[in-house]
Amino acid sequence: MSWRNVPPRKLITATLSVCAFLFLIHFVTQGPRTPTQIQHKFASRGLAQPERQNTVKREFLHAWTGYQDHAWMADGLLPLSGGKKHQFCGWSATLVDALDSLIILGLDEEFDEALNATLTIDFAESVENCDVNLFESTIRYLGGLMAAYDLSNDARILPKLIELGDMLHSAFDTPNGMPCTMCKLATKGAVVESSENAALADIGSLYLEFARLSQVTGDDKYMRTVDRLSDVFARSQNDSSIPGLWPENLGPRLVDGPQGYDFARKSSRYGLGAMSDSAYEYLVKAHLLVGETRSVYRTMWDLASRQIKRYLLFRALIPGANETDALFPGIASRSLGSAQTLLETRTEHLACFAGGMFAMASRIFNNPDDFEVGEQITNGCVWAYQNSPSGIMPETLTLLPCSVNDGLQCDWDDSYWGVQSNRPENCMNGYCQSSRYPPGFLQVKDPSYKLRPEAIESVFVMWRMTGDEYWREVGWEMFQSIIEHTRSPFGHAALLSTMEVYQRDTYERGLMVRKVLARQTDDMESFWFAETLKYFYLLFSDPSLISLDEWVLNTEAHPFRLTRGIRGF
Ligand SMILES: *[C@@H]1O[C@H](CO)[C@@H](O)[C@H](O)[C@H]1NC(C)=O
Ligand SMILES: *[C@@H]1O[C@H](CO)[C@@H](O)[C@H](O)[C@H]1NC(C)=O
Ligand SMILES: *[C@@H]1O[C@H](CO)[C@@H](O)[C@H](O)[C@H]1NC(C)=O
Repeated sequence: MSWRNVPPRKLITATLSVCAFLFLIHFVTQGPRTPTQIQHKFASRGLAQPERQNTVKREFLHAWTGYQDHAWMADGLLPLSGGKKHQFCGWSATLVDALDSLIILGLDEEFDEALNATLTIDFAESVENCDVNLFESTIRYLGGLMAAYDLSNDARILPKLIELGDMLHSAFDTPNGMPCTMCKLATKGAVVESSENAALADIGSLYLEFARLSQVTGDDKYMRTVDRLSDVFARSQNDSSIPGLWPENLGPRLVDGPQGYDFARKSSRYGLGAMSDSAYEYLVKAHLLVGETRSVYRTMWDLASRQIKRYLLFRALIPGANETDALFPGIASRSLGSAQTLLETRTEHLACFAGGMFAMASRIFNNPDDFEVGEQITNGCVWAYQNSPSGIMPETLTLLPCSVNDGLQCDWDDSYWGVQSNRPENCMNGYCQSSRYPPGFLQVKDPSYKLRPEAIESVFVMWRMTGDEYWREVGWEMFQSIIEHTRSPFGHAALLSTMEVYQRDTYERGLMVRKVLARQTDDMESFWFAETLKYFYLLFSDPSLISLDEWVLNTEAHPFRLTRGIRGF
């Protein structure tokens, strides 16, 4: 029978039933493929706030001009002296880290110039045969190039991406396939051995960049490496003293050896801040990128997120908390075999990303309750910004936990605070908290601000997921405080202390004005361009710009296009 002899109506019916059959097969084997919607369903376009966006852009250009004029192609600019620094092997970290921000902010000429310069970087040559920091180079250089490629589709970037990707990938050329976190990867003939000790984040947040590299090149060798790595993490997840969590330090060299379980027993401290942070973030984001084909990230997240909520998050006595629930990530310790967990109620600016992480995970894994967890972590960071003397959260902050741990937010209590905050252990050099800091700030071991993005990152995610203008308002206040205190002659400078401000005479447009400002220090990390200013800009842009439904941002805020992940493109 040929199709030509079949009456048209029958043909249509036959075609339809074949389609229905195929759809059924597809449905049964794949489940309904409704793409995970992360962003709020914004009813209209035109939600940009151009004035605020332009203000962010002006500040970006101020610092970018400083970099162009005084530190072009160096790893970083020194924003007070106009000097420059070498930091990550001298491959122009700031330049590469900023590429995609230049595109997103619409600075096309600056991007052209920056890309041309980037294409001249030789990743086989490094300053003094330096040790390559695998984690930082992967998230900043590889992530930066990848996002520039994904956003511009400029074919000239691809060879650079492969050149750098292969060099970083050689960190895994070790006897047991676990990476070397600090090795002379760019030095011919140098021996590469897996590290004896590695921070959790340094080896636990490499999935995204290498997986995407396989997606864009079609070469699956990077993905195979990532698969092996995630397999090691999945197998070791219950080996630590708090099963489900990985401690701050791991032992890559021990994997596959007779004491393989010691991989996850190098330390008994657990947190979401320094050393650990993005290892948890990448479980969620790797699932977003490759989850259609791999279930390992979901499995790890299910277990880890339960333990994070149980052991790492706490509520604290803070003024105003009776109106807004707040949660803070702390640091837990437990020795092997012990049933007792100690919680240090010190939270870190670095851990503020966890607000966005839980909020996004709630949609991706369909756990609605986790949205509130994310919202409350974000509230805690916003509270710390709003209540510090500079309007900026310090690097670390110790809080007084609620006296009753019933899972509910405690109300502010003056007399309880008065007694607790004046206990000797909360006083330093004879100064008790109450005479130094605002209520709620029990101790501040590190009062600095390093131009970090994590708080605005979570505020940005909350805005994109809720469409609630509240988040843009608090974000705008954060931006103003940060610029006020950090603006410097050549860029923006990190602060020595967010907790102390001084009167200072400054000049603005030739006029002397007296301001109350924090003390600056001569440092400006590349993530100021890559992350902090980008998140501010995107907070005030139309939500369709870098939609979280189409892009996944690596831990350096570099967007990678979602093509074959759980959204099923
Ligand atoms: C960048 O390089 C391209 C190709 O060599 C050239 O056409 C272009 O003018 C350059 N752009 C800038 C800003 O130098
Ligand atoms: C770890 O323990 C949890 C809870 O007991 C269990 O569900 C999970 O399968 C275990 N995972 C591994 C890799 O042993
Ligand atoms: C919260 O506490 C403040 C005092 O810290 C009080 O003025 C306010 O009325 C309280 N709000 C609620 C909703 O209980």
